Amino acid sequence: MALQYIALVTLILVYSLIFIGGYISSAGLGLTCPEWPLCPSGLPNEEYFIEWTHRLIAATIATLVLATAVGTWLNKNTGRKMKFTSTFAGILVITQITLGALVINLKLHALLVSIHLGVGVLLFSMVLLTTLFAFRITKKPIESTV
Ligand code: HEM
Repeated sequence: MALQYIALVTLILVYSLIFIGGYISSAGLGLTCPEWPLCPSGLPNEEYFIEWTHRLIAATIATLVLATAVGTWLNKNTGRKMKFTSTFAGILVITQITLGALVINLKLHALLVSIHLGVGVLLFSMVLLTTLFAFRITKKPIESTV
């Protein structure tokens, strides 16, 4: 089933983005791209390549997380727990992108950067649980017609 592989790819991307975010923060590159949503020329540039990559991966994650949530609701074999974790992940990813914009607009306000880290960890947890639930989906047995 495609859902479990989409969830797994999302999990790997969220982990990578947390790593890249930590690098941006500790290397002091947070304001290399001062505009939102696009960087000045719109295209990757040596000056803000890492920040640009952070946003591109974030946009990809948002698409995958929302697709997983929709897929979970459409799939008859998913349980209530998976519906909850995937929907909560959808809410968190939208919150995280909004926070990302605020982090830039408010020039890396310490409290907002800390909340951005906290929401990122929570998002990772929800995507992890969704992935585990997705790999445990059991297909309903085909009813015998004999
Ligand atoms: C799924 C989406 C995202 C995740 C999981 C994520 C995660 C993170 C993490 C873990 C950090 C490191 C925070 C720290 O070390 O305290 C970070 C830093 C940062 N993020 Fe994100 N992020 C996401 C989306 C975005 C978006 C959309 C933007 C901007 C539009 C953004 C802007 C930033 C900036 C500017 C920093 C550096 C803050 C600093 O210099 O202290 N993030 N991100």
